[in-house]
Amino acid sequence: MAGQDGFRAIVLEQSDGGVKSSVQTLDDASLPEGDVTVAVHYSDLNYKDGMVVRGLGKLVRTYPHIPGIDFAGVVETSNSPRFKPGEEVVLTGWRVGEVHWGGYASRARVKSDWLVPLPAGMTAKQAMAIGTAGFTAMLAVMALEEHGLTPDNEGEVLVTGAAGGVGSIAVALLANMGYRVAASTGREDQHDYLRDLGATTIIDRAELAEARGPLGPERWSGAIDSVGGKALGAVLAGLRYWSSCASVGNAGGIELGGTVLPFLLRGVNLLGIDSATCPLERRLIAWPRLARGLPMDKLDAIAQVAPLSEVPALAERILKGQVRGRTVIDVRA
Ligand SMILES: NC(=O)c1ccc[n+]([C@@H]2O[C@H](COP(=O)([O-])OP(=O)(O)OC[C@H]3O[C@@H](n4cnc5c(N)ncnc54)[C@H](OP(=O)(O)O)[C@@H]3O)[C@@H](O)[C@H]2O)c1
Repeated sequence: MAGQDGFRAIVLEQSDGGVKSSVQTLDDASLPEGDVTVAVHYSDLNYKDGMVVRGLGKLVRTYPHIPGIDFAGVVETSNSPRFKPGEEVVLTGWRVGEVHWGGYASRARVKSDWLVPLPAGMTAKQAMAIGTAGFTAMLAVMALEEHGLTPDNEGEVLVTGAAGGVGSIAVALLANMGYRVAASTGREDQHDYLRDLGATTIIDRAELAEARGPLGPERWSGAIDSVGGKALGAVLAGLRYWSSCASVGNAGGIELGGTVLPFLLRGVNLLGIDSATCPLERRLIAWPRLARGLPMDKLDAIAQVAPLSEVPALAERILKGQVRGRTVIDVRA
């Protein structure tokens, strides 16, 4: 029977104007409302997890709080006709780990509407190697395709923040789909890693940060931008006529750098991606596409595994841009 022994979790509590974290065992009675209870096997680490664990950005309103914006595991109990005990499920976003208790726990209770079945051909661990970051990369690719991107278009697809989570998966996914990929990174020691994932060109982050002028030479057939700020302005200025940039992140700033001229003079599109509130129907398209389109050997190279106890230290590191690729959190370790 589920839930007899309580569950283990990272708990955030307010302390001295900040937030402190500890691993605790909680009673099942403390679980929030929801129609599905899941035995969580794996979670992961995203930039947003770093912010939540460090108490930044006012993402969490109520403490004590269990962070972890993603999880994958097995249904223990269900009052939903969509899921039966024993089924493997994945959750990303929906403000889980921010407003609702999240995946850094061996048990979670959530709304069934937030869950998708684990896609065929993918393990729970692989799903968390993908997580919100990889799901976002897939949504960005889908948005670019819907706006005309095909591997036949002239020019490379640019991925910024390429050695990060979204960036790494975007590079591997695009390369496997037949696109030529330009990867922009600020880390010289990650060039070989990015080439191994399939990048054909490496662009120094500084080149985008220092770019001047509203329009540059037409270079890219599309772009996925994790950085924002001035770099985004430079990305827009270098896009080819009628091409698009999917804006997914703000690792370099929340400003929208540049001018409107790429929109007006080159018909360029800026496409917003919000993975957290992505509708269920689109999730049910994106996850199977990830299972088919992302080479699992590349995913192995992108992801490392860490235990729950390492989350606080990893949170510090991801906020400093020091984490490469993806980190799976083994919540049972
Ligand atoms: N819209 C959505 O639904 C959604 C979903 C997931 C993530 N995000 C956002 O997307 C971004 C990336 O998330 P992630 O999980 O991939 O994070 P991540 O693993 O930390 O990757 C971010 C990457 O951005 C680059 N970067 C870091 N600091 C920078 C700076 N000051 N200036 C320029 N580049 C910098 C680094 O890449 P290099 O070392 O290669 O330069 C870093 O690895 C974050 O802003 C996150 O909040 C949004």
